[in-house]
Amino acid sequence: VSAVEVTITALGSGGDGLAEADGRTLYVPYAAPGDRVRVALGPKRGGGYEARLLARHADGPGRVAPPCPHFGTCGGCALQHLDEAVVRAWKRERILRALAARGLGDAAVSAPVPARPATRRRLGLALARDGRARVGFHTRFGRAVVDVAACPVAEPALVALIPVLRDRLGRLAGWRKGQAIATLTETGIDLLLAIGLSPAAEALRRLADLADEADLARLSLSAGGRSEPVVVRRSPRLAFGGVAVDPPPGGFVQPTADGEAAIGAAILAAVAGRARIADLYAGCGTWTFPLARTASVLAVEGDPALAGALAEAADRSGLAGRVRVATRDLVRRPLAAAELDRFDAVVLDPPRAGAAPQAAELARSRVPLVVVASCNPATFARDARTLVGAGFRLGPVTAVDQFLWSPHVELVAALAR
Ligand SMILES: C[S@@+](CC[C@H](N)C(=O)[O-])C[C@H]1O[C@@H](n2cnc3c(N)ncnc32)[C@H](O)[C@@H]1O
Repeated sequence: VSAVEVTITALGSGGDGLAEADGRTLYVPYAAPGDRVRVALGPKRGGGYEARLLARHADGPGRVAPPCPHFGTCGGCALQHLDEAVVRAWKRERILRALAARGLGDAAVSAPVPARPATRRRLGLALARDGRARVGFHTRFGRAVVDVAACPVAEPALVALIPVLRDRLGRLAGWRKGQAIATLTETGIDLLLAIGLSPAAEALRRLADLADEADLARLSLSAGGRSEPVVVRRSPRLAFGGVAVDPPPGGFVQPTADGEAAIGAAILAAVAGRARIADLYAGCGTWTFPLARTASVLAVEGDPALAGALAEAADRSGLAGRVRVATRDLVRRPLAAAELDRFDAVVLDPPRAGAAPQAAELARSRVPLVVVASCNPATFARDARTLVGAGFRLGPVTAVDQFLWSPHVELVAALAR
């Protein structure tokens, strides 16, 4: 059978509608629970099959009109066709299910702190040039670049950058495809271009024109794993806990100020009163500096550029006595139990892969409190299970929706002995 009519019964983990046909699970992008749809069967994917929406005969109760004209073509968003309440309930459910899979299903999980449109301050843009430049996002399942004119997720200043980039990069020779990371800081946009360009004189002149027209704070080029500023008009600057930090080109920062505030508030509430804190996976100090207001903090980060920015900010602000910084790979060389024992609390904010080796050392340590911020409920649940197995108790989980209209959800939780 190449086409079937089905009713969507639920949302899968990637945000696709799920349906059953002849005992097979179908994944139907952009379909809502309750939709009655006709779909074309596609290739096998995981335990089921991909399916493409051909026609919608009836709408599910949570369906809404998507706010963006690019929705359905652009791969940046997966869930604009669903009511916010449906998405929030589903994101909470994802966390509960991940916890239940590790025997932690009785944890209290909050409704996600919502994400507002037009607040994303860090964008990864896909770039391509074939006669003219395309600037936007990859399609959902391919590498083609969808040339966007609108993006209701992003800060308006970043959306305004897109046509300037398209025009200026279209006139720049010597590149075919790549990526841009645009971060809106307090002093303007920090732009990193990874387009395999060798910065010859003519290219530099054109990049300087781009920086002027877009009023960029800084423009950097990335090649071979190194990022070098080529135009600095103002130092890009963010403030964490009242401390000014100059993030390195393309360096990680929380993607929205609201998300940063919600996650930060949950972390600070959990460690209140603790005097010696280790901030592991510290980035350039998003939590380090708020923590350092009332505690002495060891910040550990694997990326030397981020750790360097953190150390510089600590020096400049006179906090070097309260903040120590170490550059260290916490997967290959986690802090050992004996190193951890002098801390009253440990904050862990790992990438999607989680922090299995560090959780194992924490389990062996005498640390009384571990506060985890996570962007992946599955690896969080795995690492939390390790700690619970060593006598920690999992407290209430604060869910945070920082990636509007995407299937991602973040969370903060404290584990105490
Ligand atoms: C989710 S970010 C959090 C950063 C910071 N806490 C913040 O909120 O801005 C994860 C951080 O872990 C760092 N990281 C990734 N893998 C690492 C590793 N193996 N060892 C140490 N740090 C690592 C990344 O460079 C990134 O800064």
